Amino acid sequence: MLAVAVLAAGKGTRMKSALPKVLQPLAGATLVERVLASAGNLLPERRILIVGHQAGRVEQQLSLIGGLEFVLQDPQNGTGHAVQQLLTPLQDFEGELLVLNGDVPLLRAETIDQLVATHRDSGADVTLLTARLKDPTGYGRVFATADGLVSAIVEHRDCSEQQRCNNLTNAGIYCFNWCKLAAVLPTLSTDNDQGELYLTDTVGMLDRAMHLEVLDSDEVNGINNRRQLAQCEALLQQRLKEHWMDEGVTFIDPDSCSLSETCQFGRDVVIEAQTHLRGTCRIGDNCRLGPGSLLENAVLGDGVTVLHSVINMAEVGSNTTVGPFAHLRPAAAIGDDCKIGNFVEVKKSTIASGSKVNHLSYIGDAELGTNVNVGAGTITANYDGVNKHRTVIGDDSKTGANSVLVAPITLGKSVTVAAGSTLTKNVADGALAIGRAKQMIKENWSAAKP
Ligand code: UD1
Ligand code: CA
Repeated sequence: MLAVAVLAAGKGTRMKSALPKVLQPLAGATLVERVLASAGNLLPERRILIVGHQAGRVEQQLSLIGGLEFVLQDPQNGTGHAVQQLLTPLQDFEGELLVLNGDVPLLRAETIDQLVATHRDSGADVTLLTARLKDPTGYGRVFATADGLVSAIVEHRDCSEQQRCNNLTNAGIYCFNWCKLAAVLPTLSTDNDQGELYLTDTVGMLDRAMHLEVLDSDEVNGINNRRQLAQCEALLQQRLKEHWMDEGVTFIDPDSCSLSETCQFGRDVVIEAQTHLRGTCRIGDNCRLGPGSLLENAVLGDGVTVLHSVINMAEVGSNTTVGPFAHLRPAAAIGDDCKIGNFVEVKKSTIASGSKVNHLSYIGDAELGTNVNVGAGTITANYDGVNKHRTVIGDDSKTGANSVLVAPITLGKSVTVAAGSTLTKNVADGALAIGRAKQMIKENWSAAKP
């Protein structure tokens, strides 16, 4: 039997943020979500989150993840005090308790698997993850023998100068024999620099404490301040981009680009400088993204080009080009072989294949058929100040430059709209619609002026 507990009650004072630390985002997921994911292979019997500071907000953020139990720690009097809150909920539990600090987000699932397996093999009372760090400042130091037996963990601030020279550090990830831990938990004291109950003190109280050293010390990075947050973001970004390079994506200037974990790419995608993908993006083969683009929850077919543009919650079909300087907003669905050009904004509209909106347009709440040509400066006037209305344009229709289509309005198939028209009435298939003042000419007008 395995129970997993994540310590997520702390305020994160050193972040200087209104957001609880464990909700800080890293490559699109919060710290606590990442920590939970690192134990995702294990299929534990119980998954417990210890919450305290802004508990409601943390619970709400995680409400979509099923099977979580929340245990309140109030006040927050240290990591040992946090785990003491489990004595009641786990009073009948027998087995291992895996404790994860909520601010250690880069752990690989394989590392956690290995920790639990090592613990089960050795039969220790506790097995903890350690790493040798070049700069161990701020971390608890682990005192261990060559055969891996741990005698004590001393927090950085409680260490003597000599103890600080030990660079074997505590990652904050422990696999305990729960019954053994439960027996010593009530005896913790606050005899330390912070006056808190330290979970790390239980290690010296247990008979057999072992450690497992992680080779990639980046994995155990803890986040206490925004510098560490930025360092972890950089490491995660590097991991993500290297993964996708191995899968056939070219980055022209990887350092200037960022991805989220939930992006998927086909083969031979080229990502140019200053291009960022957030949320869940799905990008087909042979796309060229950037330079200078932001894609958020975007779904692109194959061979799509996006140049200096923003796409948010929108879909683009194969071989369509977007930009420069286009903005596709939520529920824009662009078909295959389309062109969405300069300074064009599309919102909640379907544009079927082969259609072109090349210059200076707003298309909102509209449905365009195939091979429609939207002239420069055409606007759908979709909003009457109270409600939004739909515009429908049939296949093979053309709008002239600077047309205003006042919705609700339906243009049939093969309609032509004269330049400068303001249309308020439906137009039948094949018709020409002209809705503008007749031009007048007054000959010799300037000569006649006084
Ligand atoms: C802790 C460890 C340290 C280790 C480091 C690794 C202790 C005493 N020290 O130090 O040995 O090297 O992590 O990153 O455990 N929390 C609660 N309730 C509390 C206090 C904290 O739930 O009352 C949670 C925090 O939200 C956080 C985690 O526990 O997710 C760690 O707390 P933090 O204060 O960051 O501990 P460190 O000083 O980093
Ligand atoms: Ca920490």
